[in-house]
Amino acid sequence: MKVLGIETSCDETAAAVVEDGVSILSNQIASQVEIHARYGGIVPEVASRQHILAIIPIVQQAMAEAGVSLDSMDGIAVTTGPGLAGSLLVGVNVAKAIALAHGLPITGVNHLEGHIYANWLGNDTPRFPVVCLIVSGGHSDLVLMKGHGDYVVLGRTRDDAAGEAFDKAARILGLGYPGGPAIEQAARNGTASIKLPRAWLKGSSDFSFSGVKTALLRLVEGGGISNGADAAASFQEAVIDVLVTKTVAAAKEHRVKQILLAGGVASNRFLRHWLVENSPIPVLVPEPVLCTDNAAMIAACGYYRFQAGKVDGLDLDVVPSLKLT
Ligand code: KG4
Ligand code: ZN
Repeated sequence: MKVLGIETSCDETAAAVVEDGVSILSNQIASQVEIHARYGGIVPEVASRQHILAIIPIVQQAMAEAGVSLDSMDGIAVTTGPGLAGSLLVGVNVAKAIALAHGLPITGVNHLEGHIYANWLGNDTPRFPVVCLIVSGGHSDLVLMKGHGDYVVLGRTRDDAAGEAFDKAARILGLGYPGGPAIEQAARNGTASIKLPRAWLKGSSDFSFSGVKTALLRLVEGGGISNGADAAASFQEAVIDVLVTKTVAAAKEHRVKQILLAGGVASNRFLRHWLVENSPIPVLVPEPVLCTDNAAMIAACGYYRFQAGKVDGLDLDVVPSLKLT
């Protein structure tokens, strides 16, 4: 079964063709990052307009790369939320138009569910039950998954998401946007020698990253940082220490077979390495390009939704604040 995936929830316009939920035939992404970098963050109105310009060419490129036509597709999967309403609408409406014109079934995909399914696009197929850590610009969720489409959210952030914390810390340190890759890059030349707080929230699988961000801000404002690389390395380690420790604890508690990583922050090499090193339970991590926003993960998730008979009508709508459960 060939599924066309479409993703426009934030600042990447993406289309991909995935066969049977596992084989990527094409994966095209038009990033708006350079446009939003001028403003130091995503401007929703600008994002919607860019999606409108990019969506048709990117779908055509995905078809060309896969060497297939829209008529040979078996279904369309499109992100319906969470995300920016104006951005989501572009993808959903284009998906509905293609579905109508080519007589294809359509299924709406939760963007977070999509991130999890990036783990099905690798060489090893995940074995249930799993605990998945989804760390992106808007979310830090720990999820127990016992089967396809079966999610129990064990914990989530009480304030800033992990990616959001990286973006804010990079702004504090004058490292630019997007902050995650900038902090990772800067941290390579530093050591984690600055003491920063960790919010363990004992007895809970929730996260909190606003304290470590504020501690960094106070240090910078007080002139207590002489080496930006050390500050970046210390911040990165403080966030990742908590993410890894709490993920491994949840995985042990629920006796899962595997731990999955997902979301833009999962492309961080330090996080990938530290989790693998510190987990007695096998860890699966998607390729970096499949961790940040893409449409292959949406198509992979869509495949399993189609398998479960989850087909939507042409009244499919966006849900900007969509939750996982
Ligand atoms: O999943 P994603 O591409 O978009 C959302 O769904 O939010 O995640 C974007 C987030 C941004 O906050 C970005 O700074 C962060 O992921 N990120 C990273 C890295 N690459 C992207 N954070 C830490 N280290 C990275 N290498
Ligand atoms: Zn995302």
